[in-house]
Amino acid sequence: MTLSDLPALRTALLAWFDRAGRALPWRVGPEGRRDPYRVWVSEVLLQQTQVARGRMYFERFLEAFPTVQALADAPIEAVLKAWEGCGYYARARNLHRAAGVMAREGVPTTYDGWRALPGVGPYTAAAVASLACGEARAVNDGNVRRVLARLHGERQPTAAWVQARADELLDPTRPGACNEALMDLGATVCIPKAPKCGECPLRRWCVACQLGDPASFPAPKVRAAVREVRAVALLLGDAQEAVLERRAGSLLGGLMGLPTEVLEEGESEGDALTRLAARLGATVAGELGTVTHSMTHRRVTLTVYAGVGGPARSRVTEAALSRLDHKALALWEQRRASLFAPA
Ligand code: ADE
Ligand code: SF4
Repeated sequence: MTLSDLPALRTALLAWFDRAGRALPWRVGPEGRRDPYRVWVSEVLLQQTQVARGRMYFERFLEAFPTVQALADAPIEAVLKAWEGCGYYARARNLHRAAGVMAREGVPTTYDGWRALPGVGPYTAAAVASLACGEARAVNDGNVRRVLARLHGERQPTAAWVQARADELLDPTRPGACNEALMDLGATVCIPKAPKCGECPLRRWCVACQLGDPASFPAPKVRAAVREVRAVALLLGDAQEAVLERRAGSLLGGLMGLPTEVLEEGESEGDALTRLAARLGATVAGELGTVTHSMTHRRVTLTVYAGVGGPARSRVTEAALSRLDHKALALWEQRRASLFAPA
């Protein structure tokens, strides 16, 4: 694979995309002139979600806020509610803030303009600029990294290396299609574990495929340690009406959820529960069970108890809750009968 191969490689990639590219709900409008709002929302969503799930969340979000103006006009609580289940609520807050800027100043038409908005990093700006504005900007995400590492036979691709390879591959006449082609190729053909080289338009040029073990490219990243967090929660009420608190701190901070206490270093679960019940002025009735939730750098194990007393209940369905809280509330339906059996 040399620079002189690039024109033929681009042609093969784009022909494959024209034939096999996915029809996705944010791919609306002519190539390079997609609806910037849809592209932006979808890219922010897809940073933390697989396409299958992201699609569903996208439809829900667009139904709630069909335009930048609708998003800008909405109260933040409604935006967080529509973002429910999508994780990283800071992204929803930034969407809302950026929509406010766009409602006042207009929707940017360049990479630099998008990059200046709250929460828009180089990846999102490149995606929106190429897909919606026709600007020649190459995206660099996990799929692109994997495809390019294999194509070039590079085991340890740095971010700068990936960006340079993506920039040189980008077809300046069809930048949006080129970016989406790499995303789709990485998601459907050049997949992590068992790449389907037999179906791949890049096979002729692909070093990793020629070496015979493409799945070993790129070498696995040394992962930052995942921190184990243990916490206790108290469900006062039921799955419809319960005591909810606004979480502070780094564990799902800013969202409403069941009252919790994180176990301190060396603290027992019983002591944390006592602390929690005392803080709420509540009495523990029994254990509902344990749920776990994994985030990028944390794995939370939450033991959920039911109790009585404590402060006023709120309507659970009206609050934006994390998936962890939904899992905790699901325990209520499974276990209530064993705890609160009729006498
Ligand atoms: N993953 C991230 N962005 C995407 C897009 N625009 N299309 C498909 N998959 C994606
Ligand atoms: Fe990936 Fe195989 Fe295509 Fe190479 S030939 S880019 S390894 S699917």
